[in-house]
Amino acid sequence: MPAASVRIAPSLLSADFGRLAEDLAMLEAGGADWLHVDVMDGVFVPNLTFGAKVIETCRKLTRLPLDVHLMVVEPEKYFDSFVKAGASTLTIHVEAAPHLHRQVMRIKELGAMAGATLNPSTSLETVREVAADLDLLLIMSVNPGFGGQRFIPRSVEKVAAARQLLAATGSRAVLEVDGGIARETIQACWKAGADTFVAGNAVFSAKDPAAEIAALRALCSERA
Ligand code: DX5
Ligand code: ZN
Repeated sequence: MPAASVRIAPSLLSADFGRLAEDLAMLEAGGADWLHVDVMDGVFVPNLTFGAKVIETCRKLTRLPLDVHLMVVEPEKYFDSFVKAGASTLTIHVEAAPHLHRQVMRIKELGAMAGATLNPSTSLETVREVAADLDLLLIMSVNPGFGGQRFIPRSVEKVAAARQLLAATGSRAVLEVDGGIARETIQACWKAGADTFVAGNAVFSAKDPAAEIAALRALCSERA
């Protein structure tokens, strides 16, 4: 039996924008827990995606919580408009957040869940002082910027260390992993302590995305 706390969060980046309404309805019916929304500014990462307008459109098309991942510099510029557009969670990169505590508090003040995320090369120590204030900690298991990249194996140890850090700081944050999550990689991350999994390519390239969501979830069972 999969654990009740497992969340599968398909990434909008891999959706077919010509059939967005159908894709979102299919994910919702297929048992997705959250919709992961990758916002890229072409500065923090070498790719451009979407902004408030698309978040607003998704908010109208689905009841799934919108898990917004901000791969942008000066993320605070977007907090108000993105929460207004319907973001449930705003996750910012510590590499782009010199005042992480202030930024986390501002997101919470606006009524959204506040997340922090780390590039693969960034130490977990950068979030220790704010861990207890976080609603979500996201471990990047690829270098952000593109879907469909290969999972970096060392990320499993980082997830385990993140789980320890959350326990040591008394944090109740969701522990999410993003990048290269598929049948081959999800179980190790689950066993290491992650509870929430972004999956773009794995879900959308599957013949039957709903069955893929179920298969990913089924791989997250007893940790022992
Ligand atoms: C990468 C994004 C990811 C990406 C995941 O920069 O943050 O959310 O969409 O896609 P897959 O699952 O294909 O690696
Ligand atoms: Zn992402």
